[in-house]
Amino acid sequence: MKYPYLENKNILIGVSSGIAIYKAVDLVSKLRKMNLNLKVIMTKNAKNWVSDQIFSAVGNCDVYYSSFDVKGGWIPHTELSNWADLFIVAPATANIIAKISCGISNDLLTSTAIAFAKESKLIVPTMNVRMYENKALQRNLKILEADGWTIIEPEVGHLADGEIGKGRYPDNDRILEYAEYLLCKKDFLNKKVLISAGPTVEKIDPVRYITNRSSGKMGYELAREFACRGADVTLVSGPTNLTAPSLVKNFIPVESAIDMEKVMVTYSENSDIIIMSAAVGDFRIKNFSAQKLKKDDVLVLELEKNPDILKELGEKKRENQILIGFAAETQNHEEYAKKKLKEKKLDMIIVNDVSRKDIGFESDENEVIVYSYGEEYRLEKNHKRIIAALIIDYVYNKFC
Ligand SMILES: Cc1cc2nc3c(=O)[nH]c(=O)nc-3n(C[C@H](O)[C@H](O)[C@H](O)COP(=O)(O)O)c2cc1C
Repeated sequence: MKYPYLENKNILIGVSSGIAIYKAVDLVSKLRKMNLNLKVIMTKNAKNWVSDQIFSAVGNCDVYYSSFDVKGGWIPHTELSNWADLFIVAPATANIIAKISCGISNDLLTSTAIAFAKESKLIVPTMNVRMYENKALQRNLKILEADGWTIIEPEVGHLADGEIGKGRYPDNDRILEYAEYLLCKKDFLNKKVLISAGPTVEKIDPVRYITNRSSGKMGYELAREFACRGADVTLVSGPTNLTAPSLVKNFIPVESAIDMEKVMVTYSENSDIIIMSAAVGDFRIKNFSAQKLKKDDVLVLELEKNPDILKELGEKKRENQILIGFAAETQNHEEYAKKKLKEKKLDMIIVNDVSRKDIGFESDENEVIVYSYGEEYRLEKNHKRIIAALIIDYVYNKFC
């Protein structure tokens, strides 16, 4: 995944001695692969478990653990807290949470936490479920939240001690999505955005179906970017291999075009911006078989037309609502796109050339042309997240 809002930022990772410490090594490794400016602080107990050299090697960065490692006027906790644009404490033990929540400052991690005056601070509690549900721990988390910390809730599942419950270290991508949220402008706050993504699936019988090659990546990146910029996003997705972006409030999985139509029409009523990036199948099976078809059956598939969801949304469009369509074309891009723009009463249409292997379906990259009335905006080949950000900048400048 790409995290444009972390680029050129100074990121400080605080590591305490939770059993999930090995996952923090992966977090540091991920950040290093992005070429970010990194520094790590470890508690004394964390250092007893994983060597500081591991973090230093994996992160290609300095690792600190002593408050008293003062050199030439360089005071670790004030310098590190001043240097960092973003402070992530992961994993955060019950102990470190208790100490930070009441302002204790008796080691480098807690002293840095108390000296860190920016809002961009994340904490990732991970522990046994009974520790997590403990009243004191919950009370301490509430205090941290009130003090401006963003808390990433642990996941439910198998815990290191064999128990099952809430307390697992979350996926590092989830942590980084929240990190980006703290650093990114909020120009779509209070806007309701509805996005469709992925392919639709039309069943032939209980085990077979027809679909298309849409991966959903473009729609998911648009959803991720809008949510990062403060929008209240509903993502309606056909079946994909992707994980829903963590900041998307409402994720609705669907299968067929008819399912997607129902959801899109319902949610469109309250949406300020609607983007149809899903590749809706044009046809569905007319003679669906409730029983599995046999190999020896002579198979003739009868197809019937699916609803044109984009057209329907255009007809229902209310004043001040922005409706954006996508067109996947292999030829005559401009002509087809402009026709669609007008006929479906869109405000904007985004065209990508799906005949090219290096962009479009399945690829992480795309190259698109945006058409609105009397305007054409070409976006050079780039990661879909960057294309999403540029499209959203354009929407903001043109309509907001
Ligand atoms: C095997 C083992 C696993 C532990 N895992 C956790 C954990 O996941 N979360 C937690 O809050 N504490 C855990 N602890 C307890 C902390 O390591 C302990 O409270 C320690 O004093 C915290 O020190 P620190 O916060 O300075 O790193 C664990 C302890 C042991 C021995």
